[in-house]
Amino acid sequence: MWVIPLLLLCLVLLYKYVRHHYTSWQRLGVDEEPAQIPFGIMTSVMKQEKSLGVVLRDIYDRHTEKIVGIYMMNKRSILIRDAVLARQIMTTDFHSFHDRGVYVDEEKDPLSGNLFNLRGASWRNLRQKLTPSFSSGKIKGMFGTIDDVGDKLVQHLEGTLEQNEVVEIKDVMTTYAVDIIGSVIFGLEIDSFKNPQNEFREISSSTAKDKSLLLKIHNMSMFICPPIAKLMNRLGYESRILTSLRDMMKRTIEFREKNNVVRKDLLQLLIRLRNTGKIGEDDDEVWDVETAQDQLKSMSIEKIAAQAFVFYVAGSESTAAASAFTLYELSMYPELLKQAREEVDAVLKKHNLKPKDKFTYEAVQDMKFLELCIMETIRKYPGLPFLNRECTEDYPVPGTNHVITKGTPILISLFGINRDPIYFPNPNDYDPHRFDADIMNYNPAAYMPFGEGPRHCIALRMGKINSKVAVAKVLANFNVIQSPRKEVEFAFDAAPVLVTKEGLKLHLTKRN
Ligand code: HEM
Repeated sequence: MWVIPLLLLCLVLLYKYVRHHYTSWQRLGVDEEPAQIPFGIMTSVMKQEKSLGVVLRDIYDRHTEKIVGIYMMNKRSILIRDAVLARQIMTTDFHSFHDRGVYVDEEKDPLSGNLFNLRGASWRNLRQKLTPSFSSGKIKGMFGTIDDVGDKLVQHLEGTLEQNEVVEIKDVMTTYAVDIIGSVIFGLEIDSFKNPQNEFREISSSTAKDKSLLLKIHNMSMFICPPIAKLMNRLGYESRILTSLRDMMKRTIEFREKNNVVRKDLLQLLIRLRNTGKIGEDDDEVWDVETAQDQLKSMSIEKIAAQAFVFYVAGSESTAAASAFTLYELSMYPELLKQAREEVDAVLKKHNLKPKDKFTYEAVQDMKFLELCIMETIRKYPGLPFLNRECTEDYPVPGTNHVITKGTPILISLFGINRDPIYFPNPNDYDPHRFDADIMNYNPAAYMPFGEGPRHCIALRMGKINSKVAVAKVLANFNVIQSPRKEVEFAFDAAPVLVTKEGLKLHLTKRN
């Protein structure tokens, strides 16, 4: 008889507890985004209506305070709305926010031990070792391989235009970016434009195609609930994509080590790191072969593969988006398009190059206006729409009475900040000139497209060069036909990137 009242009492207590939890920011005096129980701000992500980057931008727009209390599922987290505070957290106060707080299990799942996920001293050690791989000298060394992929892009477009002058530029740039990663990072001889069925492309496109529920749960938990991802791995869950990439990498490394093959690419630098424990600053000597007996190797193949994999994830979508959005925006601004194209023509002429010649690193570096265009593109469409950190020691928020406690996840909406007119006047306009040194029509403190501080993008130079090569090759070889101005709409995606609802169409014709 007492069972039903007891059950009711339990339900009431549970309800009170849950309500209490989901209003705790309010009680702490922090501006709060009202929570939808049980998923908090993740409700529309779980319903696959909006991606997390868009949800965070919407919250950013709805509030005005420096910090906003949010619930990521049931986890109390903080959205930083103030660009200066965000920068401070990532730079001067980095010691209180050095981790991302995402899933990593180095011991049982070495493939998760990549630079993006690692914490504390493990991250710092690896970051120090990998940093020389992305120096301007090393990128110059790899430039030939990047340029080769750019030429394949041009040949592909020439072929495509025979049938249809309107191309899906995001798809084309995705193939370009994935091939750069395949050849520069995985050390493969690939041409996915000609042979889309190659092993690397198959594996990488299965990442996009794999819609299995387990993969979705695993990917989301890595970000918002790392213990679930850890549990899944301990129970034997393995990402098929990761293991295929590891096996492929293992074969390439073994082949190179056995046959003393040297290529100027990132894989060569990673092999060097595995054999000698460091990469070295010298940009010429570093490509020499150095081998060590198995027991003396400083890194397992798994650890090397983990880095290559994160370079693939972090480098391909961001590069493809930066290149495709730049061309898409230029097609809507005839004056800017003309200026960009005239600059490419003039720089090629200055360096005695023809549009079909191999470009040089110096020529691409000389394309200053194109650099401003890429800067404006990644402002308007940030490669990562939000940054994340975990508070690693209690932190009194400057200018407020609030203390962020250790363990609290921190989110910074780059998408929100970059489209905020306080920092970037007329934020929906595409205006590369805002970055002109004598115009500076923006607040520099708010411009962080590659993140900030010791954990900023390790490959920002490479990201810019890859995108510039693609855009310059297109402008040098094709006419971009003007199209009416239209703001893109964003679709749901489980990955933390901005994906458009419709593709990005570009009308091109061959240049004489
Ligand atoms: C236009 C292209 C790119 C953009 C816009 C971009 C943007 C970013 C951003 C915003 C972050 C987070 C930084 C932070 O939390 O402070 C990041 C991190 C990272 N990026 Fe990039 N990225 C680009 C290209 C690349 C490329 C080509 C690679 C590799 C080949 C790469 C590898 C990484 C890695 C490994 C991290 C993690 C760094 C760490 O935690 O130490 N990125 N990137």
